[in-house]
Amino acid sequence: MTEMKTLTIPKPDDWHLHIRDEAMMRAVLPFTARHFARAVIMPNLKPPVVTAADAAAYRDRVRAAIPEGVNFTPLMTAYLTDTTDPDDLECGFEEGILFGAKLYPAGATTNSENGVTDIQNISVVLDRLQRIGMPLLLHGEVTDPDVDFFDREAVFVDRVLTRLRHNFPELKIVLEHVSTHHAVQYVVSEAHSGKLAASITPHHLLYNRNRLFDGGLCPHNFCLPVLKRETDRLAVVEAATSGAPMFFAGTDSAPHPRAAKEKDNAAGGIFSAPTALSIYAEIFDRADALDRLAEFLSLNGSSFYGLNVNEATLTLEKADAPLELPSPIVTEEGDEVVAFPSGMPLSWRVADR
Ligand code: NCD
Ligand code: ZN
Repeated sequence: MTEMKTLTIPKPDDWHLHIRDEAMMRAVLPFTARHFARAVIMPNLKPPVVTAADAAAYRDRVRAAIPEGVNFTPLMTAYLTDTTDPDDLECGFEEGILFGAKLYPAGATTNSENGVTDIQNISVVLDRLQRIGMPLLLHGEVTDPDVDFFDREAVFVDRVLTRLRHNFPELKIVLEHVSTHHAVQYVVSEAHSGKLAASITPHHLLYNRNRLFDGGLCPHNFCLPVLKRETDRLAVVEAATSGAPMFFAGTDSAPHPRAAKEKDNAAGGIFSAPTALSIYAEIFDRADALDRLAEFLSLNGSSFYGLNVNEATLTLEKADAPLELPSPIVTEEGDEVVAFPSGMPLSWRVADR
């Protein structure tokens, strides 16, 4: 007899997700919609989702891709540019179309070439966000070519985030996909404000940067922010499993066709939607913190964002046999997408019920 350990929690939310559009979206969205009640949908399409009207149109396309009978709410974001119109953001937010505004420093990551070139250029927008209580979601990395690639996040915290917090103390900010001890420490040090939170991905919990060079260069472990040292990974695990209310799940599941990952200038982005909950459970299990998994997956984010906790529940179960990974998945156009992590047995899975 296999011994089965189970855990039932309010249905989780994914506070940071890329689903792209069209055929790719139709292929990947069902994996998220099955496991998560809501997800914050990133706007870095090509061209990006910059206005409230763009977001409304994108939301319609997302809704059309949700499988029949599945209850899933997409929370839409607008991509900030040097010329974002604060009135448009405010209208979108008041009308319930926009959930937050996403700041990509220009050139920091996939499809960020239209991002903000200098944060000073958008101070009027930031002031408006602060006034209306609309959250700012940060890709927290500098792009200065003189900064070591692995230091991009830490330098962002020191050069940009501290000033942002100082100039806009009431602005609600989420530092997305934290990957360093330095960033975790800063978020903890600002906890008293109640205005700064951080999302955490499965891959930054599971792997350190050695996995980029595991028997050769591994593009399927390449994401932005890039994986860091083991000491950083441990700090991120400690933050997630501590139960502290300002840390919550955001998978940053970011699918790319295999051909875009296995090439020169391979795209950053890890597709973790099918396995994200298994990985989170595994990490919490290893840290002996399963009793805090619901906080991280289902409670902290909604509380920070001022939303209700989901009424539906989800059960995770730990079986002796490792989970079968659904990889690769294939889009209608024949593109393959490799699911993360390859070759790592996971024993937690979402129960069919
Ligand atoms: C994301 C993508 O592919 O859109 N890539 C990534 O490595 N995380 C963009 C992002 O969130 O940085
Ligand atoms: Zn992302």
